[in-house]
Amino acid sequence: MTAPVGLPAPVVPVAARSSVVPDSLLLLGRSGDLASERGVECPGDLPRLSDPDLVARARRARARLGDRAFVLGHHYQRDEVIEHADVTGDSFKLAKDAAARPEAEFIVFCGVHFMAESADILTSPDQAVVLPDLSAGCSMADMAAIGQVEDAWQVLEGAGLAETTVPVTYMNSSAAIKAFTGRHGGTVCTSSNAETALRWAFEQSGGLDGGGRVLFLPDQHLGRNTAVLALGLSLDDCVVYDPWKPGGGVDPQRLAGARMVLWRGHCSVHGRFTADAVEGYRRKIPGVTVVVHPECRHDVVTAADLVGSTEFIVQALERAEPGSEWVIGTELNLVKRLAGMHPDKKVHFLDRDVCYCSTMNRIDLPHLVWALESLADGRLVNRVQVDDETAHFARVALDRMLALPGPTSKD
Ligand code: 13P
Ligand code: SF4
Repeated sequence: MTAPVGLPAPVVPVAARSSVVPDSLLLLGRSGDLASERGVECPGDLPRLSDPDLVARARRARARLGDRAFVLGHHYQRDEVIEHADVTGDSFKLAKDAAARPEAEFIVFCGVHFMAESADILTSPDQAVVLPDLSAGCSMADMAAIGQVEDAWQVLEGAGLAETTVPVTYMNSSAAIKAFTGRHGGTVCTSSNAETALRWAFEQSGGLDGGGRVLFLPDQHLGRNTAVLALGLSLDDCVVYDPWKPGGGVDPQRLAGARMVLWRGHCSVHGRFTADAVEGYRRKIPGVTVVVHPECRHDVVTAADLVGSTEFIVQALERAEPGSEWVIGTELNLVKRLAGMHPDKKVHFLDRDVCYCSTMNRIDLPHLVWALESLADGRLVNRVQVDDETAHFARVALDRMLALPGPTSKD
């Protein structure tokens, strides 16, 4: 495989990512405040959004790269980006797809930063993972910094509980946190295999009926929904650990009795859906099927008919009867795409107050064109690279996940 030529690649050190303060949202492009926005600077020219030739430029650059590049698109990406993806999927499928392409020199990841990091960990060192806009982060992933997680582990150690606790992190977390779980006998999960991963973790900690517990990072809702609805634990079995409070804000006795220690993190998009909106649709459309992502709050998930990952939602709509009516609670780009793909079914968006995932949306056609043209011209740009030691332990955790039996989504 030929090494990429041209300018040295800007590498985002993992340590810098894990301690970041969330970015302010500014307009992208050359006129933005580059000092306050990570990764907005695009060496060379970022094409104008109004350029009528953008689609043709993307196709030309893609054709020039041929098999040297593999373009992955998460289901939440804009249509204008998805059009140029070689494969689409949820974060679990995309991680596996990236790992299955050892011949591609460039993995162009149209998704968010933690997904690109995982792809880098799962691919070989001579493959470069490129994120077209480095400021495409995830507000949930930013709710857990590695230093805070290490402090939480010390709290568990201090309480004599670390030996019977297995850490499990959602894919939506930094590589440093994945490495933490790898070092401490834990694993990673995605929204499509959370039940399997949690069952595995409880086995390691002494069995579901034993005295062990799971430290679940960083999405309290996915952790709670899976523990209660799939594993049959009670809400009382779960405690919320607040990294901003001494001792996580949890009484040590309560911590000792908990089966699930849930990190106080959430998705800023899915956290806005409400159970009232579900009930409102049920009143308006008798017989409607409501499907939501497991990052939604527990009352929303229990009010819905089905819950599952983005891939699960895509497949549910594919299997649906013509004429059936659906309400979907997940990111708007995907819901709009599903409505367009299934004109024989009626698709509604769960809540008018919920908007796009702003970080997923940072990858737009101008950034994709810029990245593809740069690569085709021999400039390796926006490389996401995890340092060797972090990658090693994160890979331990990811390999444990990939060795688990296939994804399960609960309905
Ligand atoms: P999936 O794991 O379903 O792809 O979801 C990722 C994500 O970021 C959802 O908000
Ligand atoms: Fe992160 Fe939520 Fe956006 Fe998914 S939808 S990338 S969890 S902020």
